[in-house]
Parts: sequence; C-alpha cells; structure tokens
Amino acid sequence: MSSRALITGIVADEVLDSRGNPTVKVRVVLDDGTTGETIVPSGASTGEFEAVELRDGDAARYCGKGVLKAVSNVNNEIALALRGQDVLDQRQIDQRLIALDGTESKSRLGANAILGVSLACARAAAQSQRLALFQFLGGADSHVLPVPMFNVLNGGKHAADGPDVQEFKIVPLGAPTFREAYRYGAETYHALRGVLAEMGTSTNVGDEGGFVPQLKSNLAAMDALTRAIERAGYRPGEDIAIGLDPAASSFFTDGAYRLTRDRLSLSTQDMIGYWKSWVNAYPLVSLEDPLADSDWSGFATITRELGARVQIVGDDLFVTNRKFLKRGIEEGCCNSILIKLNQIGTVTETLDTAHMAMAAGYTCLVSHRSGETSDTSIADLAVALNCGQIKSGAPARGERVAKYNRLLEIENMLGAAAVFAGRHAFSNLRLST
Ligand code: PGA
Ligand code: ZN
Repeated sequence: MSSRALITGIVADEVLDSRGNPTVKVRVVLDDGTTGETIVPSGASTGEFEAVELRDGDAARYCGKGVLKAVSNVNNEIALALRGQDVLDQRQIDQRLIALDGTESKSRLGANAILGVSLACARAAAQSQRLALFQFLGGADSHVLPVPMFNVLNGGKHAADGPDVQEFKIVPLGAPTFREAYRYGAETYHALRGVLAEMGTSTNVGDEGGFVPQLKSNLAAMDALTRAIERAGYRPGEDIAIGLDPAASSFFTDGAYRLTRDRLSLSTQDMIGYWKSWVNAYPLVSLEDPLADSDWSGFATITRELGARVQIVGDDLFVTNRKFLKRGIEEGCCNSILIKLNQIGTVTETLDTAHMAMAAGYTCLVSHRSGETSDTSIADLAVALNCGQIKSGAPARGERVAKYNRLLEIENMLGAAAVFAGRHAFSNLRLST
C-alpha cells in the first residue's frame, strides 16, 4: 500500500434526496484506481449560522432548488485545484477547500459542493488504504457503537399537522448491544403504531419516518411513547429512555414560544418550567434545542437548572461550529452538541468541533438531516469519534435504516472489540434509574 494516493479526477452530479429535492453527489478518483463517493444531505429546520447550501434559485427548475452551480463548482474550480493532491492528507485537502472558497460561510462555492468533495475524499482515502471509513477517520481505537435515538414521532417543520415538538425519540440505552438496541427500537416503533391507532389518530409518517399523530397536546405524545415502550415489553427509563428535539427556534416568534397544540405562549422562563415538568414526569435523557438559537442566556439557565438530569444538546445554537461552541463553553450553555457534517462543511472541521466538545466534557450526538440519502457516512463518523450517540430518524424508511444497518455491519466487523455505549453515553448525567 502506498503512503500517498493522488487525486486524478473529481466528478459531481445533481441527484435527489429523500424529500425529492436536488442535492450534490460527488465521486473522487485516485491514481491507484480506487474511488470514493458520497451524497450530501439537507436540513429543513436549519440553524441561522449554518454553512450555506448553494441553490440555483432558478424558478424554472425544481422550484429554484436546483444545485447545478454547486455541481459545476465541483467539476471545474474544485477539481482543478485538487488534482494531484494527496488524498490521505484530509486536513490539507480541507484547508485547500476552505481557502479556495474564501468566505466564512462557504457561500461562494457552496457548503454542499465543499462537503461533497471533503467526504468523498475521505471515503476514497479509506478505500485506498483498504480501511473502513470509521477506521480511516478514527484510527485503531474506534470501537464504540453508539446508542441510537430513534425519532418515532415527528412534528414541527418535518410534519404538517403534527405536534409542535419536532422529534420524540426513543433511546434504548439499556440494551446490551447495538443489534439489540435496534430491535428494541423497531419493536417499540411498531407498538407505537398500535397505540396511536387505538387513540384514533393518523399513523402516516413524516420526513424522518416517525408517525405524525394529530394529538390535542404535545404532552399526549409523551404518554403515547411511554405506553408504546411498555407495550413492547420494555421498562421506560431502564431499557428505553426518551429524547426530544423541540427545535424551539421553529415556534419562537415575536419574542414568545408559541405552542399551537397546547394553545400556549410562553416566556423563556416559562418555557424552561415547561421542560422541567416533563423531566420530572418522564425518563428524559436528551433535550435538544429546548430554546431558540438566539436565547444564549436562556440556554445557560436551563443548563444550570436541568443539565445534571438531562443532556442539553445544542444544534441550531452551535451549528457544529467551533466559534459558537467556544462561546457556549464559556457561558455554560449546553453540555452536549449535535454533530452534522453539512452544518460546517468539511470533515476536518467536523472532527475538530467534536473533539473540542469532548475535551470540554460535552457529549456528542452525531446526526443525519431531515433530507437524506442512502449515504451511510455518519454511522462511521459516530464510531470514529467513539462518542456513543447517533440519531438517524425512525427504524424505518430506506434512507434512515441505511445508517443503522451500516452500524450492524460495523458491529459485526469489530466482533469482540465492539462495545455498545449504553448508559455510559450519558455519563455526564445523574440518571435516576
Ligand atoms: P433538520 O432537522 O435536518 O431539518 O435541520 C434535524 C434537527 O433539527 O436535528
Ligand atoms: Zn435539532
């Protein structure tokens, strides 16, 4: 095996994601004949400061959402700049991409173009070295299988007519292995379908494969979830805990948190009180974006008041960006961060952010986007980081289970070396059970 592998070609194409919107596919070819391919995901409830996804804005094509400019940037400017570069030096590749773009938000070439190239390079490099992607990214110590957070009930921007809370997730932290956690999750998902049908509500699904019931309140969803866990034969809190992503920016308007389902309009302090009552009543281990992404002082307060009992995850608040994470660490905002490759736009910056978080005692939750594809890179990223947590939607729908199925494969590959993170993934909490 050579200690260098040079890029001979980079080719991009416009393909569709799980919502039927265009996205960027990139293929990198190396001088040793190996290739790496990836497809970039796309969010709907995006943070204000995410790296910029370049869209054509041509109303005559795909309602303005075409990505031909991003594709052309890869095929021309980026391909030219990276030809002949050593793909094994990921940091160097990513630095070149950042410098070539020249903007802080990656808006000139497009974060969708840049991430596509960065990740396809990583995949090609792994192939060239005959390593799995997680081994290339994380090295010899990568061995921790993450606890999956299955988003079984969808609301917010991912489901018209659903609850205000965007994601209700089941977290099988008491399972002995990833394979068993997957089974716990799928069985509970099916039990939930039965519980909702009995309640006389719809069991159609939302963007991430979770059900979209028309319930009278957000709290009713928590009760349905608890009943489903029990009906599937599991103990709430011990076998399966609950995680939430309210994505609160999406219902924060004109200075108030407006929960349509509950007919409530709340101040920051009242919103924190609302979550506190849920933490008291349910086995919640993860609470992501419980407040709007402009509410830094609110995040400090909720972390102080609830952070020992439930991980407070910053998604829209941090956008996988070290600059915002640094501020969060300094101001005591959150004790956990969501990690999304396309929020920041390169593999290296993603790894740097995750490492900065872990060094500060934050947990990391690796995440898909609501617009996804069959690409499984985030499964490998979670194992590479040994961070112990991943969310990829429901244990249903092709683009969601692709990641979980990849984790089954990784668990098999690792054999006796594989460790399922289980409750240790939440070691920064005082879990009551
Ligand atoms: P998005 O949602 O991919 O639509 O941003 C996921 C999340 O908010 O975590
Ligand atoms: Zn989120």
